[in-house]
Amino acid sequence: MNVYKERHSVRSYSFVPLEIEHYGKVYDLINNTCKLYDNIGVDIKLIDSTDNIMSSYRMVTDFIGEVKAPYYLVLSSQKKEGYLYNIGYIGEEIILEFTKLGIGTCWVGSPVSYDKLYKEVNFKDGYEFVILIAFGYPDDNEVSKIKKRLHKDDIVFKGEIKKELMTIMDIVKMAPSSLNSQPWRIHVDNNTWHIYMKKGNTITNSSLHQLNKIDMGIAIRHIIKGSKEQGFKPEIISRDNMKTEGLDYVLSINFN
Ligand SMILES: Cc1cc2nc3c(=O)[nH]c(=O)nc-3n(C[C@H](O)[C@H](O)[C@H](O)COP(=O)(O)O)c2cc1C
Repeated sequence: MNVYKERHSVRSYSFVPLEIEHYGKVYDLINNTCKLYDNIGVDIKLIDSTDNIMSSYRMVTDFIGEVKAPYYLVLSSQKKEGYLYNIGYIGEEIILEFTKLGIGTCWVGSPVSYDKLYKEVNFKDGYEFVILIAFGYPDDNEVSKIKKRLHKDDIVFKGEIKKELMTIMDIVKMAPSSLNSQPWRIHVDNNTWHIYMKKGNTITNSSLHQLNKIDMGIAIRHIIKGSKEQGFKPEIISRDNMKTEGLDYVLSINFN
């Protein structure tokens, strides 16, 4: 299965409990996260609304808004530099592995009621709520609406992608992003990809800017996971003096 192609945002769920075997895998995945930055503490709590549909489900959907799901992951983090990239990276690994199990997912970055959320979840000291991931088995009638993706020439603003890395480009293109904004831009420099984030109009849309940082972590996870599967040994490096007009430099990835 091409997990990157298979994954799509699921917004219509069947309200049945997870199979026992899947429960175990879900807990393994949330307890053994694969991080972009090891020095940033991340905590993931699971909200299960299948056990008491009448009370807890109603309460949960109350604060979740548009995506009503049987389960949610509540991702919280220490607020250190790079924490949003880190959350995107960690969450997307979980999402891709859930996809392999037939579990549908949707990132939920729309506003939540903090009062209700903080009543439902005990956050660790020094950790702040960042984002939710809705999940569960897709409803039988659930259909994947194919979302438009940017062409590679809109993503790569400098350099030419080598033939052998073209598959990785396709894998990045399929990454989910807030409002399908696909903020990733790439400067290709031989075997190194310098990854940038497109600057939005942050004055009018600062919450999208925050979500875009999560999007970048998601794309980076696609690049690292996808390239490892293709036999590369990607190495993440940070370069100085990488300023480019209209873009924020995030990091570079060297493929060996
Ligand atoms: C950080 C982030 C936040 C998102 N927030 C929401 C949301 O609040 N509600 C929603 O329905 N979809 C949300 N999405 C899903 C995107 O709309 C979706 O990924 C994008 O349209 C591409 O579609 P696809 O995931 O089916 O490929 C979010 C995605 C990301 C990455």
